[in-house]
Amino acid sequence: MYKWAGKIAVVTGASSGIGAAIAKDLAQNGVTVIGLARRAEKVDEIAAEVSSAPGKIHSSKCDIGDINSIKGSFKWIEEKFGKVNILVNNAGLGYFGELFDMSEEQTRKINQTIDVNFTGLVHTTREAFKLMKATDDYGMIINVSSILDTVIPFPSKSLVYPATKHAVRALTEIIRQELILGKTDKIKVSNLSPGVVETNIVEAAGLENADQFYKSVACLQPKDISEGVLYLLSTPHNVNVTQLTIKPVGEKL
Ligand SMILES: NC(=O)c1ccc[n+]([C@@H]2O[C@H](COP(=O)([O-])OP(=O)(O)OC[C@H]3O[C@@H](n4cnc5c(N)ncnc54)[C@H](OP(=O)(O)O)[C@@H]3O)[C@@H](O)[C@H]2O)c1
Repeated sequence: MYKWAGKIAVVTGASSGIGAAIAKDLAQNGVTVIGLARRAEKVDEIAAEVSSAPGKIHSSKCDIGDINSIKGSFKWIEEKFGKVNILVNNAGLGYFGELFDMSEEQTRKINQTIDVNFTGLVHTTREAFKLMKATDDYGMIINVSSILDTVIPFPSKSLVYPATKHAVRALTEIIRQELILGKTDKIKVSNLSPGVVETNIVEAAGLENADQFYKSVACLQPKDISEGVLYLLSTPHNVNVTQLTIKPVGEKL
């Protein structure tokens, strides 16, 4: 039996792309998944796709850019499931453009990217940790970052996206250190850095011809990243793979 079977996983951004693939793979392995997203109905559709899996996917409508929304979802999780064993911080977005464009629209995009990719991830981690620690069971936090968490191609034109991913990678180490200081050696944390993955992220960023973009670069599929998550979860409890970078063959960065 899969060692996390019967455990509770929270996957943020489970309504699409990488998060949907992770939620489905965990359910196929007998894990109970709570998928957080603004489009909870999409999470329900994904749950229906794997309705015969040994683990079930439940949805909770959540705006990761809003701390009150995060607190609401975790309160519901605590009441309904009583614990969390796995947190996959996957929700994220990015926009293209120039930092010094002073339009209100650009200000909104910059703030939204920071709020969801970084600030929200800080708060989901704090909320999940509270429920993980209370169980005195094994736990794992996986932060879906990006290969842009260490390099920034020139010219980036991707606003604050790479900066938020640098921050996620740095935060992963801060979480690891806090776990040591808190003497909680049953919980571990990993940073997962994917290269380009064919999802809806480019279309959501407002780029026209997303199909052509994906044809022009070497890219991965969401399942490739989900398998990386399963690998991280498969490691023995005393082994912490702190960093997993997954690039498509041919990646130039
Ligand atoms: N695709 C790539 O090339 C690539 C490469 C490296 C890293 N990543 C990272 O992988 C993660 C997943 O991205 P993806 O490629 O799978 O993109 P995607 O298909 O666009 O999915 C993004 C997910 O994030 C959720 N999300 C966005 N804003 C949210 C908010 N305010 N509140 C709650 N959920 C929110 C979306 O849910 P709702 O819209 O329903 O809220 C959706 O489920 C992101 O962190 C991204 O930075 C992607």
